[in-house]
Amino acid sequence: MANVLESIKLNAKSLNKNVVLPEGEDSRVVEAAAQAVKEGLATVTLLGNPEEIKKNNPSVDLEGVVIVDPVTDERTAKYAEMLFEARKGKINKKTGLPEYADVEEAKKGILKDYTMYGALMLKAGDVDGLVSGACHSTANTLRPGLQVIKTAPGINTVSSSFVMIADRENKYNPDGVAVFADCAINIEPDAQQLADIAISSADTARKIAGIEPRVAMLSFSTKGSGNDDKFFRSVPKMQEATRIAKEQAPDLILDGEFQFDAAVAPEVGKLKAPESKVAGNANVFIFPNINAGNIGYKIAQRFGGYLALGPICQGFAKPINDLSRGCSVEDVIAVIAITALQAK
Ligand SMILES: CC(C)(COP(=O)(O)OP(=O)(O)OC[C@H]1O[C@@H](n2cnc3c(N)ncnc32)[C@H](O)[C@@H]1OP(=O)(O)O)[C@@H](O)C(=O)NCCC(=O)NCCS
Repeated sequence: MANVLESIKLNAKSLNKNVVLPEGEDSRVVEAAAQAVKEGLATVTLLGNPEEIKKNNPSVDLEGVVIVDPVTDERTAKYAEMLFEARKGKINKKTGLPEYADVEEAKKGILKDYTMYGALMLKAGDVDGLVSGACHSTANTLRPGLQVIKTAPGINTVSSSFVMIADRENKYNPDGVAVFADCAINIEPDAQQLADIAISSADTARKIAGIEPRVAMLSFSTKGSGNDDKFFRSVPKMQEATRIAKEQAPDLILDGEFQFDAAVAPEVGKLKAPESKVAGNANVFIFPNINAGNIGYKIAQRFGGYLALGPICQGFAKPINDLSRGCSVEDVIAVIAITALQAK
């Protein structure tokens, strides 16, 4: 972990990106902001009332941290306008009414939801990335981004991946690092969404894990060996996802569908998919749904001794990352550096 994280931090330092942290009310976030600035990982913008932040964190040296108070900042009116325009015609699922009746309503909305405020700063280009979720749920952290930042060109699905880092030599993972997706956001992705997840994960492999991706679309079947999946149709789904991903990203080294052993063990890969460049050689793994992905990464973590860095959000038009509510100050700092790299 140390090496991958060190190189992420080193790369982040050379970029000098500006990352907004909307959760100025959380002491871990405030401390991480101060440390990230001290380490030179990024310029950090913290949202909240400056007096309150300083009063609640008397021992934290906030020199160099930019504190923006949405209540008094002169850009708030511009952001309210942007939100109103971006969400025009959208209906609130709970009330059945328009999300924002007018700009004034939009302004009230962003003053109640600083994650949305941060997302609008990102949309305006006033910052380069956003990190939140230390004291907000995944849904409340991602929704503003889904609503106003939207997806990267050519991608229609926001997803997540874990960068898995080996703690010892493993002949099936000579890189010592792998990418698993989607283990945290999309519950039951369809073939098109899986293709998006595969393409985004390859990007994460290059930018964050520092490896050249060889993507395996995983299944309980290898190249049609398990075509009896009458009930869930998951094998044809992975086959279709493989076809779409190859069409969308013809230069990407990607293949499937593979069982995990056919994807990583050269002897099995040669036997079951002799023509494939990926079989026996994969380092990016796309799971058919969140059950498989979430269980899979936890098995690698607990039984395999892998360290799991993530979830790292991918597919947004501009970088947004979700922290775990149990995060430590160090975790927040790592995610700031990852977000800075994604903004490259
Ligand atoms: C991602 C997630 C938070 C979105 O939830 P939500 O806010 O209820 O989403 P909605 O269906 O209301 O959609 C809101 C907007 O985001 C878009 N959207 C939702 N999921 C999206 C995705 N994965 N990619 C791209 N856009 C997405 C919708 O199209 C919608 O756009 P619009 O309002 O402009 O029309 C939700 O799918 C989720 O909770 N996933 C599982 C997270 C989880 O529990 N993980 C376990 C932790 S390990």
